[in-house]
Amino acid sequence: IHGNSDVASLSVANEIASLINQKQEEGKKAVLGLATGSTPVKVYDYLVQFHKEGRLSFKNVITFNLDEYFPMKPDSIHSYVRFMNEHLFDHIDIEPHNIHIPDGNISMDEIRKYCEDYEEKIKNVGGIDIQILGIGRTGHIGFNEPGSTLNSKTRLIRLDRMTRLDAASDFFGEENVPKRAITMGVGTIMSARKIILMAWGEGKSSIVQQAVEGKIKESVPATFLQHHDNCDFVLDEAAASSLT
Ligand code: F6R
Repeated sequence: IHGNSDVASLSVANEIASLINQKQEEGKKAVLGLATGSTPVKVYDYLVQFHKEGRLSFKNVITFNLDEYFPMKPDSIHSYVRFMNEHLFDHIDIEPHNIHIPDGNISMDEIRKYCEDYEEKIKNVGGIDIQILGIGRTGHIGFNEPGSTLNSKTRLIRLDRMTRLDAASDFFGEENVPKRAITMGVGTIMSARKIILMAWGEGKSSIVQQAVEGKIKESVPATFLQHHDNCDFVLDEAAASSLT
């Protein structure tokens, strides 16, 4: 628990930078699982800053994003491709072929195979070293909405009404928010060697309390993280305020 989201984000950015630098010394690649949304923005700001200061290179980094709306064209202002480019990828020296974001533009008949291939790609690079997460008010991680199972894998899902309401202002109205998304599964997330879930502000305090202290259940997918043996919740004081 940190005094504010700025210092909390700095601590997460430092941990990611240490991993990247350590892997570089070992001549290995660092594999990051990345999230979008408002929560990780300051972490990306710090990573960009470290890069500009010459302290951090992303030449040996491979990334996998958690999710993308479906359908979604990559060049849309609403796409997570655009979000990641704007907040991180356009400002660092990552090799474009090392970036993976679920493709919201593929045809319905290709989705199943596409999702299996996404899982394969993660496995083929040796799995995710650090997965960062936000948390939705439904208790979703990635877009694994209530009802997602512990072993779920990358797949097409239907977004919860509350999630679509939360996204409504970004899309200028709930009716414009896509009804579906492609997301890594809970099982995909749980396979990461380290998980860091971040949450800021009082609006997240109730779901954070349920995720950390509640009974493990499918209706709050973030509770599955209690099963992971290397998972940190990084919170500001407001998000931690309902913990007992
Ligand atoms: C985003 C994602 C979502 C968000 C969550 C919180 O890639 O997977 O689970 O992390 O909806 O969103 P914010 O950070 O906007 O509150």
